[in-house]
Amino acid sequence: MTEIETVEPAIDWDSLTFSLTPARSMYLATCERGGEWEKGSLVPYGNIEFSPAAGVLNYGQGVFEGTKAFKTEKDRIVLFRPEMNAQRMIQSAERLCIPLIPEESFLDAVEKTVRDNADYIPPSDKGSLYVRPIVWGTGPVLGVHEAPSYMFVVFVSPVGPYFQGGIPCLHIKVTKLFHRAAQNGTGAAKAIGNYGASLYPLKLAKDRGFNEVMYLNSNDQEMVEELGAANVFVLKGNKLLTPRLGGTILPGVTRDSTIQIARDILDLDVQETDVSVDDILSADELFCAGTAVVICPIGKVTTDDDYAEISHEMGPVTKELREALMDIQIERREDQFNWLYPIDIL
Ligand code: PLP
Ligand code: COI
Repeated sequence: MTEIETVEPAIDWDSLTFSLTPARSMYLATCERGGEWEKGSLVPYGNIEFSPAAGVLNYGQGVFEGTKAFKTEKDRIVLFRPEMNAQRMIQSAERLCIPLIPEESFLDAVEKTVRDNADYIPPSDKGSLYVRPIVWGTGPVLGVHEAPSYMFVVFVSPVGPYFQGGIPCLHIKVTKLFHRAAQNGTGAAKAIGNYGASLYPLKLAKDRGFNEVMYLNSNDQEMVEELGAANVFVLKGNKLLTPRLGGTILPGVTRDSTIQIARDILDLDVQETDVSVDDILSADELFCAGTAVVICPIGKVTTDDDYAEISHEMGPVTKELREALMDIQIERREDQFNWLYPIDIL
């Protein structure tokens, strides 16, 4: 193991945004195609050298995950449902022909990285430590085929709110010009290429003053899929609707958690179903959910030929869901679903 620098981080916890603050160390492991992952180790956080012919650089052979570590009100450090990220990374890797990382190895790598960077975790009321496990085809290729070797890295960064202005009521552009995913494509995988392809639609939307893009089903242009970096929920009376998983949207950990909280704590009638643009435009409350965005209200929706103002501020149900989720994460509320994964600091 390379020597690790131990300088106390000087971070202004009050001005955290969702941007990279380099931490002390990262986890790194490698694997040859057809072989087993070697035992990885912590190395100082820093640049990595690849061949210009690396599979990931030429053909996008890479998948990633995103989870968070929290400092809790019980003075513990916990991860939130990291087993789900481990399983999703296996699904994503399979789709991109990347050697699968066993759940235990994924969890061990995440745990080691968080433990070694524990002093980069913000106080519970200031933010969290974003954890980014990522795996790339690093060996050289020229023709389109699987890379001969792979690298698995886990790096972390303290983060604050994803959107500028804390928890704004978002203004969303529903696009028919672009699709995020097609049936049998890579939409359900957390493939790096999905995000590269989302940059242009996002840039156009941001240039016009929107916060995010909402994508529609590419078959019918009618049913809602998700945002570029979060799942979507619609409240109508006592019903909470969210687009069903069908291979084109990402099966979000926050989506699943929101569904359980809505059913078991708020007693809402949750339906994973087809959600139309009309449902969105006539919502009582509308919000997005994801690890990075947490639960964030959507206040305005613009389609090509329609506009709806849903709310000026976070609706009461959105607020209750958001608070329940965050309170469980920081142990202000009982972990009744057994979601927390404590990390012992030795
Ligand atoms: N959908 C997309 C496209 C995402 O990038 C994310 C973020 O990871 C989500 C949904 C939400 O998933 P999760 O709650 O697991 O972070
Ligand atoms: C997440 O919520 O973890 C994401 O991956 C969204 C985005 C930062 C890519």
